[in-house]
Amino acid sequence: MFVCLSGVPKSVVEGLKHKCGRKVYVPLRKFFPDGEQYLRFELEYQQEKIFVIQSTYPEQDRKIVELYLALEALQGLGVGIEGIAVLYVAYARQDKRFLKGEPVSVKALYQGLKQFGIKRLVTVDVHTVQPFIDMGFEIMDILPHSYMLSKTGVKVDLVLAPDKGALHRAEAVARFFSVPYDYLDKFRDRVTGEIKVDTKILDVSGKNIAIVDDIISTGKTLAKAAEILYRLGANKVYGVVTHALISDETLRILSASNVEKLVIANTIEQGLDLPRWVEVIDISELLCEKIG
Ligand code: R5P
Repeated sequence: MFVCLSGVPKSVVEGLKHKCGRKVYVPLRKFFPDGEQYLRFELEYQQEKIFVIQSTYPEQDRKIVELYLALEALQGLGVGIEGIAVLYVAYARQDKRFLKGEPVSVKALYQGLKQFGIKRLVTVDVHTVQPFIDMGFEIMDILPHSYMLSKTGVKVDLVLAPDKGALHRAEAVARFFSVPYDYLDKFRDRVTGEIKVDTKILDVSGKNIAIVDDIISTGKTLAKAAEILYRLGANKVYGVVTHALISDETLRILSASNVEKLVIANTIEQGLDLPRWVEVIDISELLCEKIG
């Protein structure tokens, strides 16, 4: 059985119900007047093992607390937990102490999951898997970009990562479509958050290019990359990004940069009316296939 917590988008819950051969259960969730949350599983004797699914955006802190409450409640019921899938893992970008005195947030927030005997962790394009390996999880990270791009029918000549650290994503997509791949040089000022993107010597003239990334937030990484590539003569620039933490301002920035299409996965419930140039790809089938 899949237990879907409140961060799992409705389209994923529906997809899991209809495309996987497992039952889907959504627990009761309420809030106390002081804002604390309450969960209850009205499950009778449960023989099958449970796979708990959550996505920790928006309201990252609440979604993480909800995950802990669910695991404790299931443990209290004596139910076997097969593993957990976190579609979007909040706080994963703070995976090291970039500046002295900072926390390693990903460690602070997820190592506590071990107390429930959780070993198997499935993520979708988590920022980096290493912290989870270091914490002792058996992690399966699903990279959905090739699946997403193939669903759009868009054909590209070149796949680029916005920085060297994201090269494995570009490589996976490029191998799938048998096209070349490379990366751009991105610098982020850790204090001001300002982004600069430089190209190395790349031949992009007349090419249709996919920029693949894990997260789009302000949109500045993708917009800066697209601006430079168009300046160098690229034909069309597409963004293929798993998690869209976007606002109206993000859409304005991307629209001004002339990105041809932004392809995103449904790992996060979108609260905005999205323009036609944003295509949301349902990855529930991919989840079923990977989780089993
Ligand atoms: C950063 O390390 C991530 O991989 C993304 O490149 C970043 O989060 C994108 O953020 P934004 O859209 O704000 O530039």
